[in-house]
Amino acid sequence: MANVGDNASTRLEDVLLIPQSISDINWEEIDLKTSFLNKTLSLPIIINAITGGTKRAARINAKLAKIAKNYNIPMAVGSQTIAIEIPELADTFTIARQENPAGVIIANISAFTKSDSMLKAIDMIEADAIQIHFNIPQELAMLEGDRNFKGVIKNVRELVDNSPVPVIAKEVGFGFSKEAIELLYNAGVRFFDISGAGGTNFIAIEDARQGMFAGSFNSWGIPTAWSLVEALSLEIPICVISSGGIRTALDITKSLALGANYVGMANWFLQLVLNNTDEEVANKLDNLIYCLKASLLMCGAKNIFELQKKPVIILGQTKDYLQARGIDTSLWSARN
Ligand SMILES: Cc1cc2nc3c(=O)[nH]c(=O)nc-3n(C[C@H](O)[C@H](O)[C@H](O)COP(=O)(O)O)c2cc1C
Repeated sequence: MANVGDNASTRLEDVLLIPQSISDINWEEIDLKTSFLNKTLSLPIIINAITGGTKRAARINAKLAKIAKNYNIPMAVGSQTIAIEIPELADTFTIARQENPAGVIIANISAFTKSDSMLKAIDMIEADAIQIHFNIPQELAMLEGDRNFKGVIKNVRELVDNSPVPVIAKEVGFGFSKEAIELLYNAGVRFFDISGAGGTNFIAIEDARQGMFAGSFNSWGIPTAWSLVEALSLEIPICVISSGGIRTALDITKSLALGANYVGMANWFLQLVLNNTDEEVANKLDNLIYCLKASLLMCGAKNIFELQKKPVIILGQTKDYLQARGIDTSLWSARN
């Protein structure tokens, strides 16, 4: 293996669920409900941070917010920094709240943002939680990107101390290591969106634009399956969101079976609203839900709680990597 995440995969293909021929379950009993921030959600899926700041972004946020409302799932908006700097752009984000007044809406800012700006981001959309994103590789792949990352843990501690809503530490596609999670946990963070490698790749995107890395870092990052297990192996009381390359019902089921509380999907939802009519959007989402229920039933589980009691086998590169990281995966069973 040349690099961590070499093959630009989530490595969820190394995670095996055990098919159960005997599943004493009626389809009608299958229940995908879960709760998040004391609200009941219909599905364990979060529309992850994507956009805001332009007219086109506002239209996308409006469509995403309608989905969030119709399917009773949370939605995170894209980074609000631009609207804090240029308040006239706030409506490209507030549209998400207008479309879904009672829903779970999550704000988004950089982990380096100061507390007063964080409070503006939260107020702007009456957020139920705030994602603080960590994106060093993306910044380094940009000519105009940040170069000074000193003092971030101190800043995170201040953000957590001053936030009226839960703070979610979020990667953007390079995955958190267990060391990073421990540092953030000690700074007071209890919610983690691991956003691993294998999906949207911001090094590749920025490199295609400016060539700072000349293509040499396209495989950088911790694949989603690896980062997820690293987080869960810590056995600390945290809520973990699996994201980065989540595209299918099986990706979702595997993440939940490993022990994730929720999954986040960004590009899947973006492509969904960009390329489909409202009717097609509904059909594709209904099909995703159908496949999710089918996968639970085929595993012999009628809800997420039961799924997380099922054994999961971890093989291949993922097993090797996790073993090298001191994590025993011989018979991985989600946190219980
Ligand atoms: C077009 C686009 C814009 C994004 N903008 C943000 C952002 O503003 N803030 C953030 O935290 N993550 C942002 N992300 C990252 C996603 O939330 C997610 O972590 C990452 O794309 C991996 O998930 P995916 O493979 O499902 O896309 C963006 C992703 C996409 C595709």
